[in-house]
Amino acid sequence: MGALSYDERRGELETYFDRTAVEAWARLTSTAPVSRIRATVRAGRDRMRATLLSYLPANLEGRRLLDAGCGTGALSLQAAQRGADVVAIDISPTLVSLGRERLAASQGAGRIDFRVGDMSDAQLGSFDHVIAMDSLIHYRPADVVRVLAALASRTNHSILFTFAPRTPLLWMMWTIGRLFPRSDRAPALEPLSEAALRREIAAEPALQQWRVGRTQRIASGFYKSQAMELLRR
Ligand SMILES: C[S@@+](CC[C@H](N)C(=O)[O-])C[C@H]1O[C@@H](n2cnc3c(N)ncnc32)[C@H](O)[C@@H]1O
Repeated sequence: MGALSYDERRGELETYFDRTAVEAWARLTSTAPVSRIRATVRAGRDRMRATLLSYLPANLEGRRLLDAGCGTGALSLQAAQRGADVVAIDISPTLVSLGRERLAASQGAGRIDFRVGDMSDAQLGSFDHVIAMDSLIHYRPADVVRVLAALASRTNHSILFTFAPRTPLLWMMWTIGRLFPRSDRAPALEPLSEAALRREIAAEPALQQWRVGRTQRIASGFYKSQAMELLRR
């Protein structure tokens, strides 16, 4: 089977996040009770969100932030509470409307402009910081680097993203397929070795003004993901 193009993969992800798994995803990102296994995923995701947000300045007043692949907008809410002016974009209209509802329910959460569309859309304008939490993990390495390059051209300070770490056995455990019934299987992950990712970033002409900063792997039950910070030199 040939590798899917970026557009084909994005189409699969839209179907998955907007229809197949939308309810499971809405529940996972809420405070409603979930199974023991999913609770480990939720705990891991909470740690990942906290890690990514800790890479940003404490005071985000006046900073423009893109939540790239925002899902239900949990990260956007926390960033906006710290003063950020957030644009939250996702290809799933259903998750975006859920994000809007959750924003309306959380009083005083700040400014979030929810949009439906592709994270690399140039019409979104420029940002101080971009965060793509677990939204690039299904794309091929070349596509990940291409999206990072497109985002970099419109970002002033930092791009924070996660990838599925390719370590022996580790990545095999984190197939969302283990969490959902077979019919609800998520599109495959694209596990990346940190070394290979660093090489690809270093080799990308559009990222020559950027360097890798902090990185942190988070493992919690079935959740395995690694944060990486890209900083403008
Ligand atoms: C695993 S979820 C993570 C959602 C959110 N960042 C979070 O951590 O709660 C991945 C999200 O990325 C979105 N996504 C995937 N490709 C995208 C793209 N090219 N542009 C915008 N959103 C995208 C999916 O629709 C999905 O909501």
